[in-house]
Amino acid sequence: MLGPVLLAASRSDRIHRIVSRAPVTRPVVDRFIAGNGLPEALEVVDALTADGIEVTLDHLGEDITDAAQARRNRDAYLALLDALGGKGLGGRAEVSVKLSAFGQGLPGGHDLALAGARRVCEAAAAIGTTVTLDMEDHTTVDSTLAILAELRRDFPRTGAVLQAYLSRTEDDARALAVEGSRVRLVKGAYKEPASVAYQSKRDVDLAYARCLRILMAGDGYPMIGSHDPRMIELALRLAERYGRSPDTYEFQMLYGIRDAEQRRLAAAGRRIRAYVPYGADWYGYFMRRLAERPANLAFFLRSFTTR
Ligand code: FDA
Repeated sequence: MLGPVLLAASRSDRIHRIVSRAPVTRPVVDRFIAGNGLPEALEVVDALTADGIEVTLDHLGEDITDAAQARRNRDAYLALLDALGGKGLGGRAEVSVKLSAFGQGLPGGHDLALAGARRVCEAAAAIGTTVTLDMEDHTTVDSTLAILAELRRDFPRTGAVLQAYLSRTEDDARALAVEGSRVRLVKGAYKEPASVAYQSKRDVDLAYARCLRILMAGDGYPMIGSHDPRMIELALRLAERYGRSPDTYEFQMLYGIRDAEQRRLAAAGRRIRAYVPYGADWYGYFMRRLAERPANLAFFLRSFTTR
């Protein structure tokens, strides 16, 4: 029941100020965010890749309000890719981009975001890696999928995220289950109305299973973005049913969540990638993590009482 309240709070400036200034916040944030800057994030990347876990890095900075911020966010990704290339990590590290951080929500934002993402795709290709476009609230899906189609003409390995909670997603999954297409399937993390999204956990889980089957049966490269043991088990069964070898799909989990399971999958020879967010603009991402799991919220609240 608290989930929708926290999701609403994730877009409130007032609550943002209160949460950011609370002295107990930082240690809890550190569980989910790999530091404020690139050097800390690269340390996390080193530790994960040493354990056989690949990474996708997210420079936090969603929902910006002017074009200068869009340029700064783009430049942060260029610096990130430069650093990953310098460490020879192009084969094991990719980047995830929220198009709202590149100006998608501004007037003329579609073209602005496309231009920024294109520049980042060029830099990624230059070091032998690729970009995945995160998916934000449902009003951005058409624009994001159109940008994906544009980018894939020149950078065919560009990936996208599909959110199983949206009722349109089975159709989108069918359209993207094609040769060369990389799709990260997630349940969905935003507050969406019943007119476009399943509301109950059971319906979202069933939709996830249907979309997963479509992607695993198809010719693309599915990326199973979930911590849910049942979905991981289902993916393994579907891989067997459709004769997929372990290098034709991968599991993905968020940094700081089910770390032991991430290492177990890597040790078992599965491809597993951690989504590693870093940067000072952590508020929206952090609040979505609190909203999706009571245990995450309890961890945050406990830190107030155990100081
Ligand atoms: P869910 O939250 O339904 O939990 C199911 C089960 O998983 C639990 O019962 C428990 O067993 C296990 N579990 C979950 N969290 C756990 C924890 N903290 N500790 C232990 N067990 C836990 N969303 C979006 O809208 N757009 C996006 O672009 C992305 N990108 C993205 C990338 C990656 C790599 C991931 C993993 C997720 C996203 N998401 C996302 C977030 C996604 O939509 C979703 O909110 C979360 O992944 C939570 O859903 P789950 O599928 O993990 O299971």
